[in-house]
Amino acid sequence: MRITAIRGFSDILPGEVELWQAIEAKARQVFSVYNFSEIRIPILEKTELFSRSIGETTDIVEKEMYTFEDRDSRSSESTEATKLTLRPEGTAGVVRAYVESEMYKTEPARKLYYMGPMFRRERPQKGRMRQFHQIGAEALGRGDPFIDAEILLLLSDFFTAVRLSEPSLQINSLGDSECRPQYREKLLAFLKQHEESLCDNCRRRIDRNPLRALDCKEPGCIRATKDAPSILDSLCANCQEHFQTVQRLLQETNVNFTLNPRMVRGLDYYCRTTFEWTTTQLGSQSAVAAGGRYDGLVQELGGPAIPGVGFAMGVERLTMLLRMQERAAANGPSCYVIWVGEKARDWAFPLVHRLRQKGLSVEMEGGSRSLKSQMRRADKLKAASVLIVGDDELAKGKAVLRNMASKQQEEIGLDSVEAELITRKAS
Ligand code: HAM
Repeated sequence: MRITAIRGFSDILPGEVELWQAIEAKARQVFSVYNFSEIRIPILEKTELFSRSIGETTDIVEKEMYTFEDRDSRSSESTEATKLTLRPEGTAGVVRAYVESEMYKTEPARKLYYMGPMFRRERPQKGRMRQFHQIGAEALGRGDPFIDAEILLLLSDFFTAVRLSEPSLQINSLGDSECRPQYREKLLAFLKQHEESLCDNCRRRIDRNPLRALDCKEPGCIRATKDAPSILDSLCANCQEHFQTVQRLLQETNVNFTLNPRMVRGLDYYCRTTFEWTTTQLGSQSAVAAGGRYDGLVQELGGPAIPGVGFAMGVERLTMLLRMQERAAANGPSCYVIWVGEKARDWAFPLVHRLRQKGLSVEMEGGSRSLKSQMRRADKLKAASVLIVGDDELAKGKAVLRNMASKQQEEIGLDSVEAELITRKAS
């Protein structure tokens, strides 16, 4: 019997792994220039660590964690069960380690970085895996806005080092314990007035987590919160000054950004600066890296009142973008049409002609070759995509379109193939 990998979990094979190694090496170089040290934390932690830090009412804790019960490890005879969770992110574990090893006693200001797998039971799709990898950094012990800017500059330098055409940066401030409660009340009053238009999920958590409604992708919620009060109008003087300094530092160092007062992020530990680097090339999973400030987290996890700020980057998303970029620069055909069977060939030939007439660079074979050898040739020519059509597909009225950079495949109705290829080339 053939056993396959679990859905959403994938192998990184030779041929692909070299890019991962290059990214990791560049990240280490940039981290060293910014004086960050590596920390390696366990993949498994007590569930409580994540529910307390990320927040009980977040999607991650409510429905995405891989949690199981283990016999209490303190005593082999004990039958008491402990709940354990595969880490869905790295910040909670790094802060736990910082508190547990009392790093703050010798030197509270620590710059730490990590790389490794994270686990979230989300619905797999392009750019969204159940096991994915993050490269992340946490700067603990500094509350000043210069370190927020430094984290963003580090990322910007890293993107340059791996030659990624820089994604766009959005920033926001979520205020602090002085001004956020007032904003929360204001927003809650607004949301209550529009409660009937909100989705079930937002309505359910309206009292415990009203800010999440601003981030909800449901069309009803987007419409209902269009005129919601902005957090940026509610910041106290200290938060305002902090956020203005972050913006000034970014301007002075030529990092472009836009303000997004609706960005609340999916984890509850944030305060003040939050940010996301996004790209339009990844479909709905647009964030390549994201993070922000979390001044209450060290204390929440049993340490002293020590602030922190950090980010994490999704390595799968980054490799996908770099491969897309490489394909685009290689100047290969936009599409390579692979056919299997004579009917399919005769269907494909006029299609290729029509696409070429519309200015698209398209290639196809004339003589019969196996699917595998056509695929190899498409790869050699660095085709951006491959359209696969066989006599079977023709009978079903569908063809398969494969993006050669992301390796994602989808079925397209034969009638819409031409229009689809033209729109995709334009975007
Ligand atoms: P996050 O926004 O949940 O933040 O994740 C950071 C990045 O990890 C995302 O922008 C994305 O690139 C990647 N990522 C997340 N989920 C998936 C997935 N299912 N598949 C593929 N990639 C994914 C955090 O995790 C925070 N700990 C970041 C942080 C560090 N904040 C402060 N310090």
